[in-house]
Amino acid sequence: TATDFLVTTPLPDPGMSLLEAAGTVTVAGNGMSHAELAEACASGNYKVVVAQLRDEFDASLLDRAKIAGISNFAVGYNNIDITAATANSIIVGNTPGVLTDATADIAILLMLAVARRCVEADAFVRAGKFHGWEPELLLGHDVSGKTLGLAGFGRIARATARRALAFGMTVVFCPRPPGDREVSDEELGEFAGKVGHISWPELIATSDYLSVHVPLNDQTRHLVDADVLNAMKPSAILINTARGPIVDERALVAALQGGTIAGAGLDVYEDEPRLAPGLAELPNTVLLPHVGSATVPVRAEMARRCAENAIMMVRGEMPPYPVNPEALAG
Ligand code: GLV
Ligand code: GLV
Repeated sequence: TATDFLVTTPLPDPGMSLLEAAGTVTVAGNGMSHAELAEACASGNYKVVVAQLRDEFDASLLDRAKIAGISNFAVGYNNIDITAATANSIIVGNTPGVLTDATADIAILLMLAVARRCVEADAFVRAGKFHGWEPELLLGHDVSGKTLGLAGFGRIARATARRALAFGMTVVFCPRPPGDREVSDEELGEFAGKVGHISWPELIATSDYLSVHVPLNDQTRHLVDADVLNAMKPSAILINTARGPIVDERALVAALQGGTIAGAGLDVYEDEPRLAPGLAELPNTVLLPHVGSATVPVRAEMARRCAENAIMMVRGEMPPYPVNPEALAG
C-alpha cells in the first residue's frame, strides 16, 4: 500500500514527529529534482506530498499525479498550479498567519538597513576604517516623516503598516495593484483614518519607500518593471519581501546603477538562488536569502500547520488551512 507522506525536505520540529505519529513517512533527502518529483507523484506510492517552495507542481505533473494532496511549507503557493490541482481533485494546504509579523519585521529591517546604510557601515567598522565620530560619515535617509507605499493590503502589508505608523511614517496603499478594488471600513479596521487608499500610479509616484506585499500570479509578475521604476522618485527605495518575479530584477539593477531610484532591500529574487548580473556589486542594496519567516518559533509553527494539513489530507478530510477547498467537493 502507498506510503502516507512523501516529505521532499525534512520539516523543522515538531513537523516530522507529528507526521511519524500519524502515518508512514518517506523523506526524499534534501529536495528532489522536478523529474524525480513528477515520477514519485505519478507512481501511486504516496498519498500526500509535504512540499517546499522549490518543488514545482506544474500542470503536466499534476495531470499525471496519483496523490490526494500537497501540503506546502509556506504561506505562498506560486510553486503549485492551483487550477490544475483542483481539476485533478488534489487539495493544497499552506501555513498562513503565523509568519505575518516575522515577515513584516524583515520588511522594516530592510527599509531601515538601506536607509541608514547598515550593511555598508558594519563592513566599514570590521575593515578597521572607523577612526572616530565624523560629521559626514555614512549619511543616509530618514524614515520618520516619509511616505511608505504598500503594494497590497493583506496580512503582511498591514503588519508592516502598523510598524511604519509607529515610526511616524505616512502610510498609503494600493490593495490590488496594478488595478484597484474597494476596501470597506470594516476591512480598514484599525487603519481607518490612519492610512490612505490610493491608485497604483499615485502610489508609485508618491512613495519614498515602496514595499511589495502581493502574491505572485499572472497579474503581478513584473508588476515593478522599468516603467514603474522610471515613475518612482529618484530618492525612492524599493523593498521586496514577497516574491522575486514581482520585480523585473534586471530592470532594477539598471535603475540602481543609473540613479533612477536610490536603493533596494530584497529578501527574494527572480530566479532564486541566482541574482541578476550586477545586483551583488551595488552598494545601495541590502540582500537577504529569503529569510522572511526564519525565526525558530515561526518555522516550528509553520511545521505544525504543515503537518496538520498533511494529516487531514491523508484521512481524506478538509485540512485546517486549505488553499483550494473546492478540490474536495464532490
Ligand atoms: C515564504 O516565502 C512563504 O511563502 O512562506
Ligand atoms: C500573507 O500572509 C499576506 O496575506 O500578506
